[in-house]
Amino acid sequence: MQTNEDGTTTIGVGLISVGWMGQLHSRAYTNLRYAYPDLKIRPRLVHAADPASARAEEAVEVLGYERASADYRDVLNDPEVDVVSICAPNFLHAEIGVAAARAGKHFWIEKPVGRGEHETREVAEAAAEAGVVSSIGFNYRHAPAVEYLRELVAEGRLGRITNVRGQMFADYSADPRGALSWRFVRGLAGNGVLGDLMGHLVDLVQYALGPIREVSALTSTVYVERPELPMGTGTHFAVIEDGEMKPVENEDYAAMLVRLSDDASASGAVGTLEASRVAVGPRASYGIEVYGTEGSAHWDFERMNELHLSGGLGAENQGYTRIMARPGMGDFGRFQPGAGTAMGYDDLKVIEAKKFLQAVLGREALNSNIQDALSAAQVVTAAERSAESRGWEQSSPVAGTTASTRV
Ligand SMILES: NC(=O)c1ccc[n+]([C@@H]2O[C@H](COP(=O)([O-])OP(=O)(O)OC[C@H]3O[C@@H](n4cnc5c(N)ncnc54)[C@H](O)[C@@H]3O)[C@@H](O)[C@H]2O)c1
Repeated sequence: MQTNEDGTTTIGVGLISVGWMGQLHSRAYTNLRYAYPDLKIRPRLVHAADPASARAEEAVEVLGYERASADYRDVLNDPEVDVVSICAPNFLHAEIGVAAARAGKHFWIEKPVGRGEHETREVAEAAAEAGVVSSIGFNYRHAPAVEYLRELVAEGRLGRITNVRGQMFADYSADPRGALSWRFVRGLAGNGVLGDLMGHLVDLVQYALGPIREVSALTSTVYVERPELPMGTGTHFAVIEDGEMKPVENEDYAAMLVRLSDDASASGAVGTLEASRVAVGPRASYGIEVYGTEGSAHWDFERMNELHLSGGLGAENQGYTRIMARPGMGDFGRFQPGAGTAMGYDDLKVIEAKKFLQAVLGREALNSNIQDALSAAQVVTAAERSAESRGWEQSSPVAGTTASTRV
């Protein structure tokens, strides 16, 4: 890391895995300087790794990395790499996360961190021991309308929060010919939609309302086999004609009843959360509805720039007002000058890159960190146990999680 005379700090970036998320992290680093010129941070794309040679080449030719390798260890051993993005499939997260921490590299890692609570904990312990900064790919919490919803709750504008309803309904595998990517193989992904989407929803709820203490869950698998997609090719949105059918090893759908912790800002609140990767109709309907004694608010990623807010009991005409995200709401003004011109999904990753690198420079602690990932993993793992035991399962809140302590 180098800081020049005008205070601009250049940070060497390493990337592990050049799939969908690896490409997106790279674009986020590149675009950071345009959205946040005043922060004087210059990410320098140094070294990328992917065993799929076409992807390693793409890292240099298209994304602008100075060099690329097949082996992720070459990135971690590169002295010009200060921070690393870990965008590998889930089964590699624990191995690579621990190795990154031991190499002294601050890391931005995709969710879920590993194949369940035990692997997330291994990474958390390694990061704590090495004293490196971590950030997690919980991008939905950065949506300006979500930040605003969180503020409304914290300021008590919705009254006492009584219940929350959330869903993560995707159609990426709604077609039975939808590819069997690594996401469907237990050894490569861990659980299915619980880790892939429910973890995001748990983080949203915990970010807005505080820790979840107890869950009762059920899961189901709608399609038990799918045509195989080789690793490092295509995306999990692919539909394959006449492919070789292989078994689906984890769940397509999950539902949970949840009870929030007594020390949550929405203490005593309860709720229902659902996730599906085979929904027909919703395309990426990821949202939460928060209900309080004096009002309620709804947000859905399919309409990311809107928040639907009730006028509350006192309003003459009760119902919902559609509020458009605007400058002053979260980081909206960094991307668009006025309400009504939409921010997009990629912009959320630019915000995430900013929070990560600001934390690395010791300037801000607003990034989601490995404790947030551990907290979400505990809830998801409790849900898995509950689906098995058919009873309620506890999730002990992780001490120091930013989700419950920061406004
Ligand atoms: N935050 C989000 O909204 C979001 C969205 C999608 C994916 N994700 C997460 O990001 C991670 C990656 O998902 P993706 O959709 O980008 O996957 P992907 O399948 O598009 O890419 C994975 C890449 O990893 C590479 N790879 C395989 N073995 C490797 C190894 N040994 N070393 C290094 N690289 C290796 C593959 O060649 C491939 O290029 C997952 O953990 C996923 O859950 C998060």
